[in-house]
Amino acid sequence: MMSKTKIVLAVTGSVAAYKSAEIARRLMDESLSVHVAMTANAEKFITPLTFAALTGNHVLRHGYPAPGDDPMPHITFQRGASLILIAPATANIIGKLANGIADDMLSSMLMASDAPVLVAPAMNANMYNHPSVRKNIETLKQLGAGFIGPATGELACGETGEGKMERVENIVSQVLDRLDLGRDLLGRKILVTAGGAREPIDPVRFIGNRSSGKMGVAIAQAAARRGADVTLVAGAMEIPVPEDIETIYAPTALEMMRTVQERFTDSDVLVMAAAVGDYRARSVASGKIKEKESWDLSLVRNPDIIAKMCALRNKQIVVGFAAETDNAEKSGREKLLRKNMDMIVVNDVSRDDIGFGSDYNEVVIITRSGETIKPQKMSKREIGEIILDRIAGMLTGGYGDRGLVGGRT
Ligand code: CTP
Repeated sequence: MMSKTKIVLAVTGSVAAYKSAEIARRLMDESLSVHVAMTANAEKFITPLTFAALTGNHVLRHGYPAPGDDPMPHITFQRGASLILIAPATANIIGKLANGIADDMLSSMLMASDAPVLVAPAMNANMYNHPSVRKNIETLKQLGAGFIGPATGELACGETGEGKMERVENIVSQVLDRLDLGRDLLGRKILVTAGGAREPIDPVRFIGNRSSGKMGVAIAQAAARRGADVTLVAGAMEIPVPEDIETIYAPTALEMMRTVQERFTDSDVLVMAAAVGDYRARSVASGKIKEKESWDLSLVRNPDIIAKMCALRNKQIVVGFAAETDNAEKSGREKLLRKNMDMIVVNDVSRDDIGFGSDYNEVVIITRSGETIKPQKMSKREIGEIILDRIAGMLTGGYGDRGLVGGRT
């Protein structure tokens, strides 16, 4: 497996330090190796054990190394880091970094590093607006440090103003932008469907299924981060859709069909991660259907969106999903060929530790050329990256996966 990009998360003494645990978690979800350094004051807000347990990595703390330990941890700790994120950053650490003061382990570590630095300040509004803090921030900016936030809002002291640490999502996305993890999908138009079905029966009832939308959203986010122009077609979602991705709601198969078809010709890639309802009610009652002893609901088949798109396509790469309970790999392979997809991602939904609703999944990825990839159980985000790696390879003509489809450009 490729070695992970290392980033150092420097946590200093502010009440916002509790949010750093969430930052560490989110960065790890992005396949980064996170190494936390803390000041003695930060340890009054959150424990080193929290970070050690979350990240699986040693936490750099204030104090002299014990005999037998690494004698120069402030030099070795950050070696190889692609970036240092200071979050939350107090007025104190900003002042020290701007003025070359290295009087504890964390500030010495910062001084000994040549990695790019991003700073997410968190402090009282008066402190933030103090001329000496502003001057220090200016100095750091001139030295090349990037600043994230702070936001304006209610502060821990009860006052409202500028100084609140920026939202975790924004910090994480700015770290990812700065890392430039490879924009290999720049300019590509990618259509991703996600979520479950809601086929109405009457104004209050519907036929649905157990898809949360997490896998599709993970793919959409990863594609956007890699530079793609992403449209998310969302069915019934259990999670919020990302604010920065164009989203069109299409909870029924017919709506999804129409939405996908409208955008398909213009797209380079279609990823059908939605669990489309195979059937819909033959007729939808305009008023609520009254209770009765028994009820035979008549269903009709919905169009198979992916099969239709595969029949229509010229240049597009089409990726489908399959939820199987028996013989997952064999059934998935048959589905890929029957629907004429380029790649299929097969889930075994008979297991309840993965799949529906979970943040994790264990999938088998099968390509048209017959290649089978079986990554271990991992986060849906990481699976999304693997799927996009293959898509990026196919778009640039690698992997030889597309040779069997006639008439492609
Ligand atoms: N799909 C679709 N339109 C449908 C049903 C499914 O585009 N009406 C897509 C899904 O988004 C998924 C793939 O087809 O990418 C496989 O879905 P699945 O329901 O597992 O496959 P089916 O062909 O319906 O197979 P089964 O007979 O196992 O239900």
